[in-house]
Amino acid sequence: MKLTRFGVRMVSALAAAAVTLCAGPVLAANEAEVAEHLIELVKIGRGVVSEQMANINDPAKADKGFTGDYMAAQVIDRFKKRTKVDLRIPNVVPQASLYLALVEAEREVVNEAQPIINKQGISFKGFIPAVFARRTGEHFYKKSGVRLKLTGIDYRNPSNKPDDFEAEVLRMFSDPRHPKGQSYVRNTMVDGRPVLRMMDPEYAGATCLNCHGSPKGERDVSGHKKEGWKEGELAGAISVVLPLK
Ligand code: HEC
Repeated sequence: MKLTRFGVRMVSALAAAAVTLCAGPVLAANEAEVAEHLIELVKIGRGVVSEQMANINDPAKADKGFTGDYMAAQVIDRFKKRTKVDLRIPNVVPQASLYLALVEAEREVVNEAQPIINKQGISFKGFIPAVFARRTGEHFYKKSGVRLKLTGIDYRNPSNKPDDFEAEVLRMFSDPRHPKGQSYVRNTMVDGRPVLRMMDPEYAGATCLNCHGSPKGERDVSGHKKEGWKEGELAGAISVVLPLK
């Protein structure tokens, strides 16, 4: 997602609503920016996993050197480059501890996967960007109460199933009239509590089609049935549910 200087596109009116909703010592002045940053942090981590795929799936090699510490350092460095927010500086922003909880979740997920990542003699290990993102979201929710997930209309993993809100926004994203890449943000209630929900659409690139492409129904390398996506089509979205207090 592209971040403007203030980190927010298309959301100023809604963001203003978010600010008035938030009475407590909440996060930042602009929760929409917090949600964007969380999405950015998980995207960066997923990108790191993506870069590591050949290394992870190298059957000849045991120690891959792809550790949780490596992940955390990469995420912090790249986040700083993209947002100018340096999470190595204590309390650099009011919501730094929330961001660091997500970095920590990313570190833990890579650490927990070390046995499989470093297993010799097998190539495809199933530790792919989407799996990393799902596990990271689960760890992060336990730490923070903030929900963060990768979801899609034709989801593979039941944990990624869209809720009603997500299904509706996904339908909107898949409408050709929806401006490509534009995220959706809304202040609403979940379980009687005010939340900010943000969804950021993702599209199928050429590399995704090995698994999600054609022929539809054929098994991919992970053993799942391919969805028959075409390049450029909506693949899914990253969804955040950020409690406002
Ligand atoms: C190696 C095969 C593979 C490739 C390549 C791949 N995916 Fe997936 N994708 C999967 C698997 C397996 C899951 C289920 C992950 C899980 O268990 O949560 C998944 C899940 C997803 C989900 C979450 C919804 C769901 O189905 O559970 C989205 C969205 C998604 N992929 C999009 C993409 C995009 C976009 C790309 C390209 C950038 C991509 N995938 C590349 C195998 C792949």
